[in-house]
Amino acid sequence: MQAAVMVSCASMAMAQGQEPTAAPAPTAVHPERWPAAQSPGLVDARNEARITAIMARMSLREKIGQMIQADTASITPEDLRTYPLGSILAGGNSPPLGAPDRSPAAAWVATAQAFNAVATEKREGHEPVPIMFGIDAVHGNSNVVGATIFPHNSGLGAMHDPALMREIGKATAAETAASGIDWAFGPTLAVPQDDRWGRAYEGYSEDPALVAAYAGPMVEGLQGKPGSQTTVQAGHVAASVKHFLGDGGTAGGIDQGDTRVDEDTLIRIHDAGYPKAVNAGTMTVMASFSSWNGVKMHGNKALLTDVLKGRMGFDGFVVGDWNGHGQIPGCTNTDCPATFNAGLDMAMAPDSWKGLFESTLAAAKSGEIPMARIDDAVRRILRVKMKLGLFDPARPYEHRPQEMGSVAHRAIARQAVRESLVLLKNEGVLPIKPSATVLVAGDAADDIGRQAGGWTLSWQGDGNTNADFPGATSIYAGIARAVKKAGGKAILSPEGSFAQKPDVAVVVFGEEPYAELRGDVRTLEFQPGHKKALALLKKLKAAGVPTVSVFLSGRPLWVNPELNQSDAFVAAWFPGSEGEGVADVLVGGQTDFHGTLSFSWPKTAGQFTLNKGAAGYDPLFPLGYGLTYATGGHVGPLAEEPGIDASDSNSSTFIEEGIVAKPFQIKADAGVSHRLVDSADRQEGAIRFAFTSAGKASILGPNLTLERESNADMNVEVTYRVDAQAQAPVTLALGSGAVRIDKSLADQGQWAKLRIPLKCFAEHGTYLGGISQPFTLSADAPFTITISDMHLATDPAGAVCPQ
Ligand code: BGC
Ligand code: BGC
Repeated sequence: MQAAVMVSCASMAMAQGQEPTAAPAPTAVHPERWPAAQSPGLVDARNEARITAIMARMSLREKIGQMIQADTASITPEDLRTYPLGSILAGGNSPPLGAPDRSPAAAWVATAQAFNAVATEKREGHEPVPIMFGIDAVHGNSNVVGATIFPHNSGLGAMHDPALMREIGKATAAETAASGIDWAFGPTLAVPQDDRWGRAYEGYSEDPALVAAYAGPMVEGLQGKPGSQTTVQAGHVAASVKHFLGDGGTAGGIDQGDTRVDEDTLIRIHDAGYPKAVNAGTMTVMASFSSWNGVKMHGNKALLTDVLKGRMGFDGFVVGDWNGHGQIPGCTNTDCPATFNAGLDMAMAPDSWKGLFESTLAAAKSGEIPMARIDDAVRRILRVKMKLGLFDPARPYEHRPQEMGSVAHRAIARQAVRESLVLLKNEGVLPIKPSATVLVAGDAADDIGRQAGGWTLSWQGDGNTNADFPGATSIYAGIARAVKKAGGKAILSPEGSFAQKPDVAVVVFGEEPYAELRGDVRTLEFQPGHKKALALLKKLKAAGVPTVSVFLSGRPLWVNPELNQSDAFVAAWFPGSEGEGVADVLVGGQTDFHGTLSFSWPKTAGQFTLNKGAAGYDPLFPLGYGLTYATGGHVGPLAEEPGIDASDSNSSTFIEEGIVAKPFQIKADAGVSHRLVDSADRQEGAIRFAFTSAGKASILGPNLTLERESNADMNVEVTYRVDAQAQAPVTLALGSGAVRIDKSLADQGQWAKLRIPLKCFAEHGTYLGGISQPFTLSADAPFTITISDMHLATDPAGAVCPQ
């Protein structure tokens, strides 16, 4: 068997005309095989002459500064006097100056102005150059309170409507410019091939042709048509197509992983959108965290320089991803000449900017980064700033708060919701009669944060409440409005209870919000282990109430049991702030379904790389599937065997509402008892650990690797109450690193949260690359603590290393 495999590998290599080697690394690039493209009009003689003059007045320090971007959470405007950086970003969890992360436009305008004031001030020995301020405006200006939130990209794919994409781009740009921001870190042109990837929803489709069809219109929507008045004064912002290249193809669907495909596949699938984006004038391209056949994209000169800037004629600049340069072998977050030499023009160095500035300056002085490369990078950056109108201080959109969540923009978003809904099943229960009594159930029925998903106000989209979305409409509110007009009535009950039997129940459920890392899953089974939504559907069915499932998810998931319990089933993706768009189609039947799948829907939970055209393609619903009222369709009972065991799919939740989440389990010394008790809000919702003497209690499970999570500043969050104070030290260990916690615990009898950064455990000796015993709680003397929840959390607020 072994020999046969080796023979076939060798013969494949021979067939491609290569010498058979033990470890083939097909990373050779042939630029002539790639589609050619050309940035239209980014280079114009007048601007270039102006740039030449500006650059002649800039010091080397100032040039290096242009090549580095810092994050609002780690820099002040005053810092720019000493470190003349070229760009500022606000990361997903990073606030504007002196205000909370969840802030309306005014706070962002003030922040951008404060940085710009220092960057452009006239002072001795300083060449004023405006900063470029970037943000993840990835589904609308989605980090700013009051913005119109559009559906995430997987939903937009289902519309198959490039013209509407252009309108969405325009509206997003207007709201971003109205927040004082110059640059949207989008659109994502990933072509997700493995739906376990937590960023699958950031891609429009598994189908490269659809991604290619959207790339140009979206870039033009954001930036304006090349040649027209594509400036921030006209309400446009720079786009950043990302993540170049191959982010959607990583093996195992692992975020920031390795895309192992040959050059032709890389071109055909993953590069589909980039030539279109370049031709449409994209001003920036963001490099991918991921690798291609083992080579980190941030260090891949052949692809960044020879292909993108050479063959594809890209005249804008390449920006890095969040400390992405630090992942190149031999680099650190604060030292990485290799990335600039490979063709990166601006490094995203959120918290590492100072160190990176100093080391890059040194590398410039020593010649390790050639002066010609630095001049090229700076010229590209200034070119974009000039084209975008940043050298013109007039910023009319900063005085147009009315752009935020405007009626016109919300109408576009609502249309996008209508067009993106895909009807998977309808046994005659839809459309809902407007005069009906409708029970609106499910834990996401009246929850705009759940509709919006990740990259909304916070990085992972967690922690949002309806109050954070002024002017938005939940799905429940939309249905209530629609039926009320016709004499019907909507009753909200997330848990599905009712006094009088309703005519129909709309059950809104689905994935909790997530973004990078946290969104990666190991199988496609929806709610393995705790099928809450299924239980609700069964309860309604048993009561004889017809059910319409509205499923909120970033990607297709295996939901056969839920489909079987639903009389109708609608894939609504993450629709965003305009929940009324759902009622527009579900109620009355005036508007028919329009959307069709842009991702194939799996028949088992194990069909990870179910992509049209792949060998053995056997979906439940193929690419392009979608029922309508006009044509109808019937879905019979479906097999309920997931086909793959999902019990090992959890690596981030350890205790949830008093239940030890599978596959983890508790093991305790004889002197430590543990039993279920009530939590603050739930019967038997917590576990009480009573240490009668010195001892320890552990949570055991499969090996975990938490390096990426630690790089992303994630922390361990424990919700607890001390029932009997510790008389001696108490420690919490992750693997072999133990942190003393007794002095950081809240007073006896109070529910509180303890957040410890993963980095803190690493400082205490945890090897994050392989943890066999996740947690051990040890006490040196009697101590009692009740824990309701324990999981990995992304919000860094309040996470400190206990002293
Ligand atoms: C993500 C990018 C994002 C950037 C800034 C990174 O972690 O990969 O997509 O634009 O952070 O928030
Ligand atoms: C930031 C995100 C960023 C991520 C990268 C978060 O703290 O808010 O914008 O993408 O870190 O790891």
